[in-house]
Amino acid sequence: MKLAQIISTSLALSIPALASPVKRDEKAGYLSVYWTTEDESVFFALSENDDPLDFSPVNGGRAVATPTIGTGAVRDTSIIAGQGESEGKYWIIGTDLNIGKTTWDNAVRNGSRAIYVWESNDLVNWDDTSLVTVEDTTAGMVWAPDAIWDPEEEQYLVHWASKLYSETDAAHKQDPQTPNILRYAHTKDFKTFTQPQTYLQQPTDIIDLSFLPLNETTFLRSYRDDSGGLPVEISTTGLRGEWTFLSKPPDSGSFEGPYFFRDNLDPSKGYFLADLVGSRPGVQAWVSSGDVAGGVFVKDTDHELGFMRHNSVLAVTGEQVGVLRGM
Ligand SMILES: *[C@@H]1O[C@H](CO)[C@@H](O)[C@H](O)[C@H]1NC(C)=O
Ligand SMILES: *[C@@H]1O[C@H](CO)[C@@H](O)[C@H](O)[C@H]1NC(C)=O
Repeated sequence: MKLAQIISTSLALSIPALASPVKRDEKAGYLSVYWTTEDESVFFALSENDDPLDFSPVNGGRAVATPTIGTGAVRDTSIIAGQGESEGKYWIIGTDLNIGKTTWDNAVRNGSRAIYVWESNDLVNWDDTSLVTVEDTTAGMVWAPDAIWDPEEEQYLVHWASKLYSETDAAHKQDPQTPNILRYAHTKDFKTFTQPQTYLQQPTDIIDLSFLPLNETTFLRSYRDDSGGLPVEISTTGLRGEWTFLSKPPDSGSFEGPYFFRDNLDPSKGYFLADLVGSRPGVQAWVSSGDVAGGVFVKDTDHELGFMRHNSVLAVTGEQVGVLRGM
């Protein structure tokens, strides 16, 4: 942050409520964390409560963090807010994959088994890139890491997609033993992780898992299922409980990278984002119809979000909106 911005931020703090109608500590907007096809770095866009899907870039459209190690390209950028003893901390995690330097076949046999991690205490200043290995050597890759606070374990459940090879096939030259499956581990600090385990395996490839917490025990989830688009499912028995299919957002069959977020003002309202696959990639949105717990979404046609690829969204306060706009 530049000195002038520090001064203007502290001035703003010393005269609360006079200049802005939004209370500093109430949720006033939404931060979208995305990457682009042209520059596989971390970018930010912001929207405010009056139009949650009206995202526009901040930081002058420049990257907020750029991977300096690994393959040098990040995809599937996910932001996680610290809980409990880590309240006030934020992490961004993402896939370590530079498809320009490899092939899709090699990317799933011999890709990175690590995730990118950046940490911040203020959403503006991010530490140096770290790369943390989360998978076993039998895994061919780690794609689309995302994380959610797991109230049962009081840790973050970090999940991703992998393809697993036989222990006797160290070079991953034979056919894999699984299709793309969803894997997970727990962490308290995004530095050390428990042993990876399988979260969900189906006969066909599945990737890009995302959860929406509705309360301590009830969650929605979605993922890309190669046999049929983006199912929305509900569990009332926790993240690793019993899941029931609710619906598929209309016209979402060619999309991947689903992501949900709740409305700041109306908790029964939710948004569903996904990234179109193919020659015109980019994010599009759906809005819940009725209570979000019903899992029924209708297509939004009023917003142009295609400048973002597979993103994640964090609710931010009035104070944070001010700081992010000043980047
Ligand atoms: C993956 O590629 C690297 C670099 O080419 C190579 O050193 C390594 O042996 C490969 N690993 C596997 C499992 O094929
Ligand atoms: C959690 O939310 C679900 C869906 O709205 C609801 O059916 C359930 O009663 C809620 N449970 C608790 C403990 O609030």
